[in-house]
Amino acid sequence: MLNRQGRPTQAVEAAHAEHLTFTGNKALQQIEPLIFEIGHHEATGVDIEKPAPFKSRLGKHARQGEIGLPGLSEPEAMRHYVRLSQKNYGIDTGLFPLGSCTMKHNARLNEKMARLPGFSDVHPLQPLSTVPGALDLMLELARYLMTLTGMPAVALSPKAGAHGEACGMMAIKAAIEAKGEGATRNVVLVPESAHGTNPATAALIGFSVKAVPARPDGTVAVEDVKALLGPDIAAIMLTNPNTCGIFEPQIVEIAAAMHEAGAYFYCDGANFNAIVGKARPGDLGVDAMHINLHKTFSTPHGGGGPGAGPVVLSARLAPYAPVPFIHVEEGGKLHLIETRDEAPAGNLPFGRMTAFHGQMGMYVRALAYMLSHGSDGMKQASEDAVLNANYIRAGLSDLMSLPFPDHPSMHEVLFDDEWLKGSGVSTLDFAKAMIDEGYHPMTVYFPLVVHGAMLIEPTESESKATLDLFIATLRDLAMAAKGNDKERFTSAPHHAPIRRLDETRAARQPVLKWEKPAPAKAAE
Ligand SMILES: Cc1ncc(COP(=O)(O)O)c(C=O)c1O
Repeated sequence: MLNRQGRPTQAVEAAHAEHLTFTGNKALQQIEPLIFEIGHHEATGVDIEKPAPFKSRLGKHARQGEIGLPGLSEPEAMRHYVRLSQKNYGIDTGLFPLGSCTMKHNARLNEKMARLPGFSDVHPLQPLSTVPGALDLMLELARYLMTLTGMPAVALSPKAGAHGEACGMMAIKAAIEAKGEGATRNVVLVPESAHGTNPATAALIGFSVKAVPARPDGTVAVEDVKALLGPDIAAIMLTNPNTCGIFEPQIVEIAAAMHEAGAYFYCDGANFNAIVGKARPGDLGVDAMHINLHKTFSTPHGGGGPGAGPVVLSARLAPYAPVPFIHVEEGGKLHLIETRDEAPAGNLPFGRMTAFHGQMGMYVRALAYMLSHGSDGMKQASEDAVLNANYIRAGLSDLMSLPFPDHPSMHEVLFDDEWLKGSGVSTLDFAKAMIDEGYHPMTVYFPLVVHGAMLIEPTESESKATLDLFIATLRDLAMAAKGNDKERFTSAPHHAPIRRLDETRAARQPVLKWEKPAPAKAAE
């Protein structure tokens, strides 16, 4: 494909280098250059009349020349974006086994509900009298979240899991300060297997972080926690089920030990989808837990957003929940508390996490998911997620090694790279070869406590037939890797539109901005 200067675009040059087709396309799979390479500022899909002359008030701030935005005709624009969309691999295309991410099917019913104009067009600055339905929905969602977790309070406004962690830890900090221990209780315990956001959050809120060692079986031992407890310990941040896909067997004892030492228990609830309807974090002794609505309760997940991370709080932390929150006045009138001063007696909000109240679209999707599944359906979703992960485990564990064979998997199954030893194939090579087979790779090299980790989360969405094909594919790849068919892996993917990137160069010299190529030199 040629750009507007009649020269092959960078993508075509790269394809030529691989001695592929003249166009760079692979059959009907078309390469797509950057819009800057194919667009031109004179091209446009709309016919707008030139504005009448007017006196600009911008003075020296007025634009002096073209800003170089690329233009395309309407059909060109249509094709550009449709082709780009065809390069997407998503949950609507196939199995998306990315562990720790819960890439599950999001029912279109929930999308339809979220797009109802009364919800999708609501503006955060609308007078309260015009949004009673939206407030009712938020209250209803809050009620469901508290019921499912067995916790007495919830802060809806955090915008992601990590943001929820910050909210929970700020509530913990406020509670510690209220007890006059702010200067002394300043250390947070974080297991070695934790998601990176946990220690980052604790540090961001001003705590120092102490690591809890991982036991050889992938869980946290209450004795190891107790050994670290003292008057300086503010809290533990523990993920359950943990990042190895294991339910922490001593969670109740750990919670009790924290409370006995005057500290708090923050649970990372990113994996709540494995236990909804089966276990309530409130019964386990949790003081604060975020719930990734974009994982557990139906919202398209990926591309950096949108997210929502409501935080459920125990009675000890409830008074410190941030504003805004909905207060039900006597007589049932709903009032939105926006500032600390407005908060009813007994509430001591630590402050505010976000400008407004949260992601209305995600609240609607989550509630639609809960109502359409019902309590039996949500419980079944958890059971099926766990069943599917264990089905994959059973189908692969004779070929691929399990670092923690003694614990059943919850919603995701974790393999290590022990089984690849001596094959010359790495976890990364194996993941790249999955792309050639039409699968998005699983999560690799996370959690860090496992060498060459491969974390597979099929979710409850997948049928037995889909799982069987996935297992058969991974078995074929595993046998090829062990059978020294190295070439199939080390330079994979072979059939993707873009071949393997030089990851070191990409990390060390990232090209973050398109630069206009220098004009071609005249032939000598
Ligand atoms: C265990 C765990 N904790 C926290 C997070 C952070 O959630 P978010 O990406 O919504 O900020 C994730 C996200 O993948 C996670 O897996």
